Amino acid sequence: MSKKVFLVGDGSVGSTFANDLLQNTRVDELVICDVVKERPIGDAMDLEDITPFMGETYVHAGDYSEAKDANVAVITAGVPRKPGETRLDLVAKNVKILKSIVKPIVDSGFHGIFVVSANPVDILTTLTQKLSGFPKNKVIGTGTSLDSMRLKVALAKKLDLPVSAINSMVLGEHGDTSFENFAESTAAGKALSEYSELDDATLDEIQTEIRKKGGKIIANKGATFYGVAMMLTQIVAAILENRSIVLPLSAPINGEYGIKHDLYLGTPAVIDGTGISDVIETKLSDDEKKKMLNSADKMQEVLDGVNL
Ligand code: 2OP
Repeated sequence: MSKKVFLVGDGSVGSTFANDLLQNTRVDELVICDVVKERPIGDAMDLEDITPFMGETYVHAGDYSEAKDANVAVITAGVPRKPGETRLDLVAKNVKILKSIVKPIVDSGFHGIFVVSANPVDILTTLTQKLSGFPKNKVIGTGTSLDSMRLKVALAKKLDLPVSAINSMVLGEHGDTSFENFAESTAAGKALSEYSELDDATLDEIQTEIRKKGGKIIANKGATFYGVAMMLTQIVAAILENRSIVLPLSAPINGEYGIKHDLYLGTPAVIDGTGISDVIETKLSDDEKKKMLNSADKMQEVLDGVNL
């Protein structure tokens, strides 16, 4: 089976993802589409120069008609945050961009899997499914996978442990109503509560650090892209290789956690070649359940204000 990826958005995230993808998995064809026509042409020429080391991949610029036989359509296109902006500040602009992307992809005859990273990612992933009418398991958002990696890094530093020893997730919105699933988290196989360094004040500091990290990176270097591009790569590689992995993702909620809304939100999910093969309702403390419901309510409030 030919492995073809259609990438929409060749900015910092899209371009970094393209480079990561070709270095992490076999891709037969990568098509790059962007509103700025010259950029994908230049990027494709640049990327083909790594293929002697990475295996034969046909990398080229293309339009929406190329999505027809792609396995995956990755949407990174959107206006990025400026310093001081929240991800929700981007809703109006990025919903308009999303509408201009999803329709031509669907009209091309695309029948693969959508993977979305543009922000606000939970809103845009929900709307990608609604605009496309695709089965919910064939639309995936990067969600809180990035935040969860940031949390692992922060806890590993605090406890002087390898990142691989940390098992902890950020759930809910990829944004200001996200929360850490500390109650079920472990470090080197022990509950976080067994670490005296992790008192409530320290955990609160870590939560604030994770929530603000994206904004801090933007304030210092203008954009964030390495982390989110790597999450996109992990997701797309698992789909192309039909390899099951579990990540906290923006996944379709169908009553989990007592949420009554029809939306995508950060929860652990299993992905493989079919897309989302299972949404996991992970164990939450009573306080964490309240935070999940609050996050869902906030997202629904934003969705209620969107005119598709
Ligand atoms: C971040 O937090 C891009 O929203 C993403 O870096």
